[in-house]
Amino acid sequence: MMTSDFVSPRVAALPPSPTIAVAKKAEELRRQGIDVVDFGPGEPDFDTPEHARRAAIEAIEAGMTHYPPGRGLPELRESIAEKLERENGVRYDPMEVIVTPGAKQAILEAVFVSSRPGDEVVIFDPGWGSYDAIVRLAGATPVHVQLHPDFTIDTGALRDALSPRTRSVIVGTPSNPTGHVLGGEELEILADVCTANDLLLISDEIYERISYGETPISPATLAGMQERTVTVNGFSKAYAMTGWRLGYAAAPRDFVDAMLKVHEHSVTAAASFVQVGGIAALRGPQEPIRMMVEEFARRREIVVEGLNRLPGVSVSPPDGAFYAFPDISGTGLSGTELAFRLLECGVAVTPGAGFGDDWDTHIRLSFATGEDRIRAGLERMGEILSR
Ligand SMILES: Cc1ncc(COP(=O)(O)O)c(C=O)c1O
Repeated sequence: MMTSDFVSPRVAALPPSPTIAVAKKAEELRRQGIDVVDFGPGEPDFDTPEHARRAAIEAIEAGMTHYPPGRGLPELRESIAEKLERENGVRYDPMEVIVTPGAKQAILEAVFVSSRPGDEVVIFDPGWGSYDAIVRLAGATPVHVQLHPDFTIDTGALRDALSPRTRSVIVGTPSNPTGHVLGGEELEILADVCTANDLLLISDEIYERISYGETPISPATLAGMQERTVTVNGFSKAYAMTGWRLGYAAAPRDFVDAMLKVHEHSVTAAASFVQVGGIAALRGPQEPIRMMVEEFARRREIVVEGLNRLPGVSVSPPDGAFYAFPDISGTGLSGTELAFRLLECGVAVTPGAGFGDDWDTHIRLSFATGEDRIRAGLERMGEILSR
């Protein structure tokens, strides 16, 4: 037997991350000396605020290099609870907070805790590919519900997708890849569906601080929702701390205690000194975030305007996150075909297929890249599409 024969079907069936696949191809071309404008990145192109970096360095120097408590440092859990009350209007006890190595791990723990074999988990398309993968890893079944063309929730499709086996719903607001922020009516519908059918809601709020209009609303603030919601957030996007691997979840105590079991038997804890950086990020000056979001807002205008000038391409401004998800079906190409063609000409984008089988009518462009590069990329796209 080859070692590959030992890979279980559950893992073998997982598709690779589309963002990472594009990044690899772009890197390959760069190694060949080809200049590639990269619209792929899923992370801010800014540095972690100075005060957070300093705090972590000082923590290492002070000897904070041992196992921290599994649930997370008490001071960090307190700062997270304060943040959730101050900014999101939802009150959690610090014991209802668990600190994880990234929001992704928090989502995984929530799904592992809540899913029984054969359970179904509702996820929305287009959506982040890791939701599907995490549900499969947990041995549950993802049920994909298609969003409306404007990326709002299709209530009929959501209700039709429910079965006696439905256990939970995962939703991201603002969304990756669409940038859509759930509106008041959508939240009401979601809350209604969850309470009426006794479902758990896993609310991924990782892009929450990056929004351009209305402040995103945390679903846990809706009547009857806090007791059935796992609020997930983290430091990766808001504080440009992707490499630190720091996130968290807040939920009723018994659920968090169950997450802690998965946590302690897998990752043990988020790194100790990294958590000190997290405290500084939350409690220190928030000016760096404001500046980053202002910069994203400027780039958003450039990207949206530039894309809408391209033949066969149309997009509405995203409400949040740093992605544009244009409909490219007017080009006569699929997202995958267009992505390959663009790559040959030095522009890397992510095909819509990476966010749902029915969405290869779109591509995703991240504007976590400098303005000059954005303009150069749009120009190249114009040349290719007008050929
Ligand atoms: C929608 C969404 N949720 C969660 C994450 C994971 O964030 P973290 O770096 O905190 O694991 C990402 C990262 O790309 C994301 O796009």
